[in-house]
Amino acid sequence: MTKLMIINGPNLNMVGIREKNIYGTQAFPDIIAMIQEEAKKRGIEADCRQSNHEGDLVDWIQEAWFQSYDGIVINPGAYTHTSIALADAVHAIEPIPVVEVHLSDIMAREEFRHVSYEAPYCIAQIKGHGPQGYVMAMDEILNHIAKERNQ
Ligand code: DQA
Repeated sequence: MTKLMIINGPNLNMVGIREKNIYGTQAFPDIIAMIQEEAKKRGIEADCRQSNHEGDLVDWIQEAWFQSYDGIVINPGAYTHTSIALADAVHAIEPIPVVEVHLSDIMAREEFRHVSYEAPYCIAQIKGHGPQGYVMAMDEILNHIAKERNQ
């Protein structure tokens, strides 16, 4: 079975509570339940994780490599704009497709959010689609895998 790791970084567990005008009102556990449901519909496994700690995110990206995951969907939160360690981790596992997701449109916000260190190593960046972005990211990875197999 296709196995994807869905990683959420710092403060994403506060979605539904924090800055509702930007991130919406849907509670984080409900977003995770929605992702699980959409994964089930597609016959894939979504291993959903969240941490506020940069090193956990690096460990999990490496784990995806050592445990042969088929892809990663990651919303690194603010570490998107600061973490070279995270970018290096994504780069290190390059054959594994990674899609970066942001609930908000980071390009329409403060300038410091316009930079993503890991985006150059991701197959796509999806921003501004709210929780649906995670589903779009899973489909992006599934399409990528299908294309690779047909080559
Ligand atoms: C975010 C955007 C980041 O700039 C911010 O630090 C977050 C959430 C998003 O999903 O829109 O925590 O990644």
